[in-house]
Amino acid sequence: MRIDIITVVPELLASPLNESILKRAQESGHAEIHVHNLRDYTDDKRRTVDDYPFGGEAGMVMKIEPVYRCIEKLKSERDYDEIIFTSPDGITYNQHEANRLSLMKNIIILCGHYKGIDYRIREHLITREISIGDYVLTGGELAACVIADSVVRIIPGAIGDEASALTDCFQDNLLAPPVYTRPAEFNGWKVPDVLLSGNFAEIEKWQDEQAYERTKALRPDLL
Ligand code: ADE
Repeated sequence: MRIDIITVVPELLASPLNESILKRAQESGHAEIHVHNLRDYTDDKRRTVDDYPFGGEAGMVMKIEPVYRCIEKLKSERDYDEIIFTSPDGITYNQHEANRLSLMKNIIILCGHYKGIDYRIREHLITREISIGDYVLTGGELAACVIADSVVRIIPGAIGDEASALTDCFQDNLLAPPVYTRPAEFNGWKVPDVLLSGNFAEIEKWQDEQAYERTKALRPDLL
C-alpha cells in the first residue's frame, strides 16, 4: 500500500512515520509512505501556501493552487482509491474506517492547516473527510499520523504476528481482555489463576468473558 501525505509542516511527520512498526512495514515493502511539502508546489519566491479569506474573517486560508498542483501531479502518476482531507468536521475515524482504508492500494492524505482550506478543494478534489475526534488540533498532521499508523499496522504481514492485529481492541467491537506478564505475583497482586492453568479452552473462555464485561462497563455503546 502507498500513502502520500501532503503537508505544510513535513517535519511534524518524520518521527511518527519512521519508527517501530511503520518503519519495519516500509523496510519490508508492505507500505510506502511519501511526504510532500506543499511549499514545493508554489510558484512565488516566498512559497506562499495561505492567503486572507474572502469576506474578511480572521485567520488565514490554505490556497487552492499549490494543493491542486500537488494532487494533480500525484494523480498523473497513479490512480488513487481515496483522497482524504483531515478536518475536525469530517466523519469520526474508527477501526472500521481503518480496516476499509487498509484494503486500498494508493491513498492521499491532505493535512488541513490554518483556519481552513479553500472550499473548492473539498468540493472538487477530496473524496473523504476524516476527523480523529471532537477537538481541534493545530493542523491535520497528527491526524494523518494516526490514520497512517492505524492503517499500516493491519496490512496483512506488516506486523509480523498477524494474529496480534486481528485480536486488537475494537476488531470485533469489543475491548481487549486484560493481559499480564511475569512475575505471576508482585507486591501481593496476583495474575488470575486461569491464565497460569495451561488450559487453553478455559483461558479463551475467560478472555471472551472479560472482553465482554469490560466493554459492557466501559464502552456499552459498542455492544
Ligand atoms: N485538524 C484539526 N483538528 C482535527 C481533528 N480533530 N481531526 C482531524 N484533523 C484535524
